[in-house]
Amino acid sequence: MHKDEISKAKPQEISPGELRILKFLVASSDVERPIPENSISIENMSIREISSSISWLAAKGLILLEKDEKIFYELTEEGKRFLDEGLPEEQVYDLLEKEGQATISGIISTFGEKYARIAMAQLAKLNIKPVKGVLSLQGIAGIEDIFARRKRFLKSVEEGNGIPDPQLLEHFRKREDVLSERKKTFRSVLLTEDGKLIAERTELRDTIAEITPEVLRTGIWKNSEFRKYDITSPVEKIYAASLHPITFLIEKVRRIFLDIGFTEMDGHYIEYSGWNMDALYIPQDHPARDMQDTFYLNSKESIDFEHPEVLDIFRKTHEKGTKGYAGWGYKWDSGKAKQMLLRTHTTVSTIRYLYEHQESPQAVFSVEKVFRHESVDWKHLAELHQIEGAYYGKDASLSSLKWLMKEFYARLGFTDLKFVPSYYPYTEPSMDVVVRINGKEMELGGSGVFRPEVTRPLGLKEPVVAWGLGLERLAMIYYGLDDIRKIYQSDIDWLRNFVIKS
Ligand code: PHE
Repeated sequence: MHKDEISKAKPQEISPGELRILKFLVASSDVERPIPENSISIENMSIREISSSISWLAAKGLILLEKDEKIFYELTEEGKRFLDEGLPEEQVYDLLEKEGQATISGIISTFGEKYARIAMAQLAKLNIKPVKGVLSLQGIAGIEDIFARRKRFLKSVEEGNGIPDPQLLEHFRKREDVLSERKKTFRSVLLTEDGKLIAERTELRDTIAEITPEVLRTGIWKNSEFRKYDITSPVEKIYAASLHPITFLIEKVRRIFLDIGFTEMDGHYIEYSGWNMDALYIPQDHPARDMQDTFYLNSKESIDFEHPEVLDIFRKTHEKGTKGYAGWGYKWDSGKAKQMLLRTHTTVSTIRYLYEHQESPQAVFSVEKVFRHESVDWKHLAELHQIEGAYYGKDASLSSLKWLMKEFYARLGFTDLKFVPSYYPYTEPSMDVVVRINGKEMELGGSGVFRPEVTRPLGLKEPVVAWGLGLERLAMIYYGLDDIRKIYQSDIDWLRNFVIKS
């Protein structure tokens, strides 16, 4: 850009503070020589404002910055103590002068381990070394002088009088913990040609940077200019608070079921085996009830067993079945049904909800946490969310179930589903839902038509289709993760930048 163009173009882009600094520089006696930043003082501008304006001017090419780094020394706490109480080597030497000699253990018990070691190391350098554990006085010429010079050095550091003796500086830098170093950068500023032109040609006017009540009340805005925003200036990236990817997905899933017309149900983490298992016709010796698979509570009964009348119903069904169905034929134990556990699936909410809401049709869902005594690996978690749901009505059938599954996943962007025959003690038929994506398959959960042994004893006369799908498995394919554990690893980069599928 030609100079004249710059001087025409730039004035709007510099702030009043920057302009005042340019004017200050132009007015200073020798424009050709860099002047130290700390000699620039401008009324109503703080040192910080001046310093930041200087950085901006340099970035805009209106001044040149020269940087000079200086090292400062200060006494540490220990250094100050040396100065006040005497150097350790000096103190021990004084002791020798008084006593003629001292044992190392005696010196340690008088001065403490640390100071004694420092003193003896320093005395050894002056050729005063212990013989057989005893340090003896030796006349060393000029030793008092050495101590005095060392102390004078420390004093001058303390008083901030600079470093009089580079040799002693080396000496004390090698002794740990006496001096602390601080680096400070000094900047000097020199106007460039562009800076000079702008300073000379631009009029300093008070611009309004912020519209305050004051500005409005006094009406000064009528005759003032407003500071322009530079919308091209770079800004720091700010990450606003955002939903956790799992929360985001839960909301999305809820939205889908609510849109289709489902009612949301809820439940509790702690359940009785009776509702979690017996209600679903899971026999009491079923392996899923094992301690290996389920977290049981140690505590005795402390919450109400909801609808205790069902216990008798479960007994009858498990032992003798229901009309046309034979039952499991074993002796049912109410004690087992009263064991409390962390729910292993949310199908417990479904069956209790339907028991409480018998009028058909019903369409319910939940997205809630379940717990399994499971070893964690790339596709298993011990604590996970299930997308649970059921449809109860005259027309509930395997095909309505398939339609619901297809519709649900399609709304999330997954259109390639596979249904695989499966087994659950409470559904017949049962089918697992598999999603195919990028040539891979991911099993997402189970579903099926509730068996008559589940529905009829509880008074439900029409068929029920139900499903329980893994939310975190879904999150894996939704966010393209190769390991389910990543979801809960709180990788800040992922949390900030995760990409939403649709
Ligand atoms: N409850 C089953 C599970 O936890 C899933 C399921 C729900 C299966 C409803 C059939 C019907 O895996």
